[in-house]
Amino acid sequence: MTSTLNQQIQQFYDASSGLWEQIWGEHMHHGYYGADGRQQKERRQAQIDLIEELLQWAQVEQAKSILDVGCGVGGSSLYLAEKFNANVTGITLSPVQVGRATDRARNAGMAGGTGAIAQFQVADALNMPFADQSFDFIWSLESGEHMPDKAKFMQECYRVLKPGGTFLMVTWCHRPIDREPLTANEQKHLADIYRVYCLPYVLSLPEYESIAHSLHFQQIRTADWSAAVAPFWNVVIDSAFNVEAIVGLITSGWTTIQAALSLGLMQRGYQSGLVRFGLLSATRP
Ligand SMILES: C[S@@+](CC[C@H](N)C(=O)[O-])C[C@H]1O[C@@H](n2cnc3c(N)ncnc32)[C@H](O)[C@@H]1O
Repeated sequence: MTSTLNQQIQQFYDASSGLWEQIWGEHMHHGYYGADGRQQKERRQAQIDLIEELLQWAQVEQAKSILDVGCGVGGSSLYLAEKFNANVTGITLSPVQVGRATDRARNAGMAGGTGAIAQFQVADALNMPFADQSFDFIWSLESGEHMPDKAKFMQECYRVLKPGGTFLMVTWCHRPIDREPLTANEQKHLADIYRVYCLPYVLSLPEYESIAHSLHFQQIRTADWSAAVAPFWNVVIDSAFNVEAIVGLITSGWTTIQAALSLGLMQRGYQSGLVRFGLLSATRP
């Protein structure tokens, strides 16, 4: 089951990453539009602002050895390497993304030597090829939703985190279910999102929080930034159907076309309060 899912995720990103980068750039994540989502700004600036706001929220002011789990084409990795003059390792399931991220690091003079370094490899976040306590900051921006075993994923992050280090996970969630379980319509809506974006399932933020507690993470904090990021999907939908994007879609294949045609699923999910954008930060004692 896991390897089939991983193969689907790999194929999805192998096929769609070039088009995404061509149309929307190297950051494959939401943008930040102010706490209430009302700030008007250019899309790419909103994506950079999200990174900066997340670092501020997680109180990360320095880091030397960083793991970017689910690194895409290295958008955050290169940004963090430069900002902190750090050594960043990015992992993804997609060899195409590793190739592109490595080229970008080389072009930016960050492929080796001294100073900021960004390196990339294909690896599964559920079974990471790193020694215990290797990194002082773990950054996972919009990859947790792909993980078939959320507890195992967070446990692996705990394992490779140095004592005193920070884990920051930012992930798609569904609404909390303590007051009312998900309705049949909500489950159907989520199932459509899962199918289109190669997700096994997502959890609510309180569920992630209780996993973090069970793994003995400390200083656990969570926040729901749905309002701040939801406008991103309006911007993506507006820009998805120009000539360049449509030609790119046709050449990228059916899974990418389906993802583009289904952008409204996320937009409607935020509008109804079903889809949530969850943040969790924690430290390892
Ligand atoms: C939406 S992209 C986010 C990319 C990047 N974090 C960014 O913000 O630009 C999701 C990423 O998670 C990666 N991913 C999904 N499941 C994974 C797994 N089990 N192990 C490692 N990476 C995984 C995908 O390969 C992809 O690079």
